[in-house]
Amino acid sequence: MSPDPTTLAAAFDEAYQRAPEGVWHAPGRLNLIGEHTDYNDGFVLPFALDLGVSIAAARRDDGMLHLRSLQAADEGVVVPLEGGSVDGWAAYPAGVAWLLREHGIGGASLLIDSDLPVGAGLSSSAALECAAGLALCDLYGIEMDRRELALLAQRAENEHVGMPCGIMDQSASLLATDGHALMLDCRSGLSSQVPFAPAEAGLSLLVVDTRAAHVLTGGEYAQRRAECEEAARILGVPALRDVKDLAAALGSLADPVLRRRVQHIVTENHRVEAAVGLLRAGAVTELGSMLTASHLSLRDQFEVSWPEADVAVEEALRAGARGGRMIGGGFGGSAIVLTAADRAGAVRTAIIDAYAARGWTAPTIFEGNPAPGAHRVS
Ligand code: GLA
Repeated sequence: MSPDPTTLAAAFDEAYQRAPEGVWHAPGRLNLIGEHTDYNDGFVLPFALDLGVSIAAARRDDGMLHLRSLQAADEGVVVPLEGGSVDGWAAYPAGVAWLLREHGIGGASLLIDSDLPVGAGLSSSAALECAAGLALCDLYGIEMDRRELALLAQRAENEHVGMPCGIMDQSASLLATDGHALMLDCRSGLSSQVPFAPAEAGLSLLVVDTRAAHVLTGGEYAQRRAECEEAARILGVPALRDVKDLAAALGSLADPVLRRRVQHIVTENHRVEAAVGLLRAGAVTELGSMLTASHLSLRDQFEVSWPEADVAVEEALRAGARGGRMIGGGFGGSAIVLTAADRAGAVRTAIIDAYAARGWTAPTIFEGNPAPGAHRVS
């Protein structure tokens, strides 16, 4: 469940000696399918989780930003809205505020609370950016289209955190709706809501936090992005989304690494479209094979999986799950598993036992269901 707004408002009172003007919430996301396709102008299918970041906030008239987090051991950060330099968690909300300044916001005090595990590949960063963005816009009466706010939050992360992320996470947090996955065309920005209710089909979607924390500001993500851009340049297309003839494209690339990257992106875009077709047809169970195909492609072609994710997927399949895959940028974080609900217990046990046998930290496993996107709570 999301952080409790009443407790957060009381904590704000204590921290800032005044009442907040409101509480806002932005969820983390779980990407069903479409991994590393966003910065290739492709398709993604994430949904909003019922875990996220809540922020209590109030305006200030001294042009300063006061940022505190209930999860941080430090006293928080005070920076001018004019700009400055901030490290760590505070860079996300500060980056958003600095970019919103030109839209007319003033100073603000923020108190942040989160129940999203950091480094679990569930977009705690995007949730923090989006909650801060929504709070600041609302406080200052700025009407900003959610797609525009998502782009601004992405820019904040690119420019102020140094993570060259795509647009998926911020879009999912701001645009996803309860009971649906969000089919997003990352080039046009057009999106549609696709009903996703695994329980109604007798299924359970398990999230396996593999407890191998990822650090995406590390170089691998940027390297994958650069490889995709290089391949698109050699192929003479604006982005890998535009590759229509996979065989011909592979034939014109001499570098085997670039061939593997292209193979993943092109097939992953097709898998997203197939997954949407299956969901719309009510064939949720069949999504399982798409998930597993995506995992194998991310493991073997895009080379971003990690041992704990591979074992989670392998053990889940052995225990009778319909499919599964790593999610997010890779190199740590979470995997998802789609299974018949009556096998979910056996699947969980199989994964937990396999981790124990290897002496790994026990995974955290919970059910993921589509929840509402970012909103004002009070
Ligand atoms: C991270 C990025 C997203 C996306 C995924 C991979 O979550 O923030 O933009 O590229 O990795 O699909």
